[in-house]
Amino acid sequence: MTIWSGADHICMERRPALVLANVQLPEGRRADITIQDGRVVHTGTGMAADRVIDCTGLYVLPAAVDVHVHMRGGSQSAKEDWTTGSMSALAGGVTVVVDQPNTVPPLTTPEAFLARVREAQAHSFCSFAINSAVTPDTPFEAMWAAGAMAFGETFFAPSSYGEALDTPSLSRALGRIRALGGLATIHAEGVATGQDTDLATHDALRSSEREREAVIAVQACNHDGCRIHFCHMSMARAIDAARGTVEVTPHHLFLSREKAGAADTRFKVNPPVRSEKERKLLWTYWDRIDMIASDHAPHTKAEKALPFSDAPSGVPGVETMVPLLMAEVLDRRITLPDLIQKTATAPAALIGIPPAGFAPGDRADFALYPQAAVTVEPELLHSRCGWTPFEGLRAVFPQIVIRGGDIVYDHGEFCRKEPVWFAGRGYTPTDA
Ligand code: DOR
Ligand code: ZN
Repeated sequence: MTIWSGADHICMERRPALVLANVQLPEGRRADITIQDGRVVHTGTGMAADRVIDCTGLYVLPAAVDVHVHMRGGSQSAKEDWTTGSMSALAGGVTVVVDQPNTVPPLTTPEAFLARVREAQAHSFCSFAINSAVTPDTPFEAMWAAGAMAFGETFFAPSSYGEALDTPSLSRALGRIRALGGLATIHAEGVATGQDTDLATHDALRSSEREREAVIAVQACNHDGCRIHFCHMSMARAIDAARGTVEVTPHHLFLSREKAGAADTRFKVNPPVRSEKERKLLWTYWDRIDMIASDHAPHTKAEKALPFSDAPSGVPGVETMVPLLMAEVLDRRITLPDLIQKTATAPAALIGIPPAGFAPGDRADFALYPQAAVTVEPELLHSRCGWTPFEGLRAVFPQIVIRGGDIVYDHGEFCRKEPVWFAGRGYTPTDA
């Protein structure tokens, strides 16, 4: 099993495996990136190598880390599994995913956790970390020792495949996670009773004001000062209230209720897609958003064809996350350094894994993008669910994706290499 040790010796006596030639670095300089044993070993003039890719005319980005994906699998394999979910990730320029523990059943025991690691190890095309579920009965210390990257997403309000934790239980959980030095990731929402018959009532029941109140309530019960990361914040005022790191999704940045039919279940997600006015306001918070994560949560077309109130919440998005943002870069609405910061650097720092980047020693995960956008069509994508709420939007998809110095995606073709499991800081290997 490949587990990143962080102490690999780089041997420069061998011929390097790969050179990315003529790379335009974000600060403007042009350089060749020499890669060996999964790391950048030299940035400057390229060396003789087994393979050279001329990057003239391409955007070369450190590949993204998506800290919020639901890879499904098991009884949920009709929605997605590690094979299709991770292919979808690679084809969208994401080489590391953090899988959420609201699987069926949820990851509440070290045995279930390690079985999940083995499943990913056997089938994933991308590298991965896995979080522990947070319930009143979770054995936090054992999950930490088993290699949980973080704890959560912890549901402060119920969602599809997520039961809400009451405030006293959450407070106790945060205390135990704090004692371990771990990170708690929170799905902060509040839900009023009532039936959601369309996107507007769904939005009203899970209002943005309740989201803000949930953020405040979570912080108020965090008596021990546990490190908190807020998942998928959907609106500006909730971000104002948040004292931890903040993640925002592409669906809250690019979609609004007005962009869909009144009861279009493809836009049904928690927290809800908001109004066009709130969506635009969210963009004005760009500088306050620490990172972008997809909350990739696929459901089948058949499930989404159910009446609105019965249809599950969640949208696929790992493959379109960076491509939608790259179209914004092309249109000069956001900068490339900002995109790299929010999709690669900040998420890697949050979970404490080596950064992908252009400097010697950096993890050699890259995605190479053309300078032209296409229209998103479900047929272009690799998720098993076969649909996307982003259909019709402009996006720039990578042509080549490199993970650990290997070309793992090349113009639609995948090459599976053993994924790296990024275990959390508490990981204590056993013989089991
Ligand atoms: O809409 C959602 N779907 N929000 C979540 O937090 C969970 C997710 C799922 O797993 O389907
Ligand atoms: Zn969530």
